[in-house]
Amino acid sequence: MKQSKNTSTVLVIHGPNLNMLGKREPEIYGNTTLDEINSDLEKLGKKLGLTVETFQSNHEGAIVDKIQEAVVLQKGIVINPAAYTHTSIAIRDALLLLDIPIIEIHISNIYKREPFRQTSMISDIVTAQIAGFGIKGYHIALEALAGMIQSGLSLPLRS
Ligand code: DQA
Repeated sequence: MKQSKNTSTVLVIHGPNLNMLGKREPEIYGNTTLDEINSDLEKLGKKLGLTVETFQSNHEGAIVDKIQEAVVLQKGIVINPAAYTHTSIAIRDALLLLDIPIIEIHISNIYKREPFRQTSMISDIVTAQIAGFGIKGYHIALEALAGMIQSGLSLPLRS
């Protein structure tokens, strides 16, 4: 998506199988498609003064490449690493390259699900985590990110 001169650009990353939203386990993830989510985020971004770039991949390395690019291009990240949340040290290491706010989001409440979903490889290095609000979580994340960027918070709130 084209970068506007006067707005901060933020990146929304969707991990594996999230391209199937709408068809995939709708009782957990709802009926909204990824295209609909992305287009709503772009619209919300405009209201918040943000240019929203969206990216989805089913491939761990492609997500790592995209995060590495964000080092120079982006003011903040919203990421749903999907199943890679629970396994990917590579995505964790890539996120550690960034000194911008990072919000981890999950559509479902991963802490109420199978034990293997209750561990996140990135929760201790992101600025904040949102889980269990359904797709509304993406909006909450973007609004929070806009607030952080506007208030000049440039560093992730890592402990
Ligand atoms: C998810 C939860 C993950 O456990 C799962 O693998 C996903 C989606 C969520 O948004 O709730 O693909 O990240």
